[in-house]
Amino acid sequence: MVATPLTKTLRCVVAAGTVLAMTAACGGGDSDSGSDSKGASAELTGRGPITLVQGKDTSGNVQKQVDAWNAQHPNEKVRLIELPEEADAQRQQMVQNAQAKSDAYTVLNLDVVWTAEFAANRWITPLPQEQFDMSKFLQPTIKTGQYRGRLFAVPWKTDAGLLYYRTDLVKKAGASGPPKTWDEMKQICDKVAKDGVGCYGGQFEKYEGLTVNFSEAVHSAGGSVVDDQGKPQVNTPQAKQGLDFLAEGFKSGFIPKEAITYKEEEGRRAFEKGKLVFLRQWPYQYALSKKSDVKDKFDVAPLPGPNGPGAPTLGGHNLAISAFAKNKATALDFIKYLTAPEQERANMLATSEAPTLTELYDDAELKEKYPYLDVLKESLLKAKARPEAVRYGDFTKAIQENAYAALTGTKSTDQALADMQAELGKLTQQ
Ligand code: GLC
Repeated sequence: MVATPLTKTLRCVVAAGTVLAMTAACGGGDSDSGSDSKGASAELTGRGPITLVQGKDTSGNVQKQVDAWNAQHPNEKVRLIELPEEADAQRQQMVQNAQAKSDAYTVLNLDVVWTAEFAANRWITPLPQEQFDMSKFLQPTIKTGQYRGRLFAVPWKTDAGLLYYRTDLVKKAGASGPPKTWDEMKQICDKVAKDGVGCYGGQFEKYEGLTVNFSEAVHSAGGSVVDDQGKPQVNTPQAKQGLDFLAEGFKSGFIPKEAITYKEEEGRRAFEKGKLVFLRQWPYQYALSKKSDVKDKFDVAPLPGPNGPGAPTLGGHNLAISAFAKNKATALDFIKYLTAPEQERANMLATSEAPTLTELYDDAELKEKYPYLDVLKESLLKAKARPEAVRYGDFTKAIQENAYAALTGTKSTDQALADMQAELGKLTQQ
């Protein structure tokens, strides 16, 4: 087979933190000269109006940050374009925009799992790493914006799975604190999850959130989705223990039936209406739930696992510049503005979204407003990255389809994991 740039990119899979030998053959690394083979200029020139494209502005704070920028930059205004709430739908629209080489999108708010795909396809422009002090960013976030050692997206908001729990109900069950294990969680629920209150929720709809929840369950049970060589390892007793936790949860009612339709926002609403004792969720929910009916009755703890604390998945969003955009100099300045300490700090105060700058985790005012900041930092530092794959869309689909089949009972967990292993194996061999 002739190794065209496209076929080269199909081979690139990088395991969490480990670059496969074959990545040397991956696309995207031969354009140091500043312009790529498709003619999109990598030079960051041009000033004028731009757009910021991202999922729904759930907190409303992004628009506020944009308004503040616009007031200072009347000739370089930013227009916020909101895409759907769900990660996969956002990716689809950004991919379509890139494939059409449209200049409609300037700054892309990329999920950490899309960097490799967008960089390898040259849909985003390499960024001048020397203009950002990377030593100020939380260590795990740095790699999420790099592809083959080059900076393509600046870490903006990071994410790790946390356990939101009802303090009143945990107390009522006689527990001394939040559960550290899956069994402790069940024991608490046996006592208090009744009369319309379900036990445990997460993100179980068939989309990226399910890949996150599946990975967390597998990692918490001591398994891995891919090993250090980037080979899938989902047909293992540990992966089975993880998937069984979720599948049996649905069978036994430990996870309420309706949670199969939960993405982040559906789960949040259920928790805020008092319908759940426990919810696996990202940091953004904290500030929103502080304005809800459960505002004085919840707290946040590390995720539990089978034998002790579990292993959260690393999430987050980084800022990149579309290769096809105009006014890239303005875009670069705007990225610097959003990732500066004052803006990251103000954003956390307003939204509880996790900042990417390390210093903010020791900030007295933030600590007072968000007493769980140490728990968050600890969860972020131990969080496991999802596989970094150029064909991430196919990779995650194979996980989603099979995990969903197990949760809905159309496949046994053994069958789902065997099928997942085979499909992931095919993708990583190409
Ligand atoms: C959050 C995370 C992101 C993840 C998504 C899944 O937005 O930051 O990394 O892919 O949730 O729904």
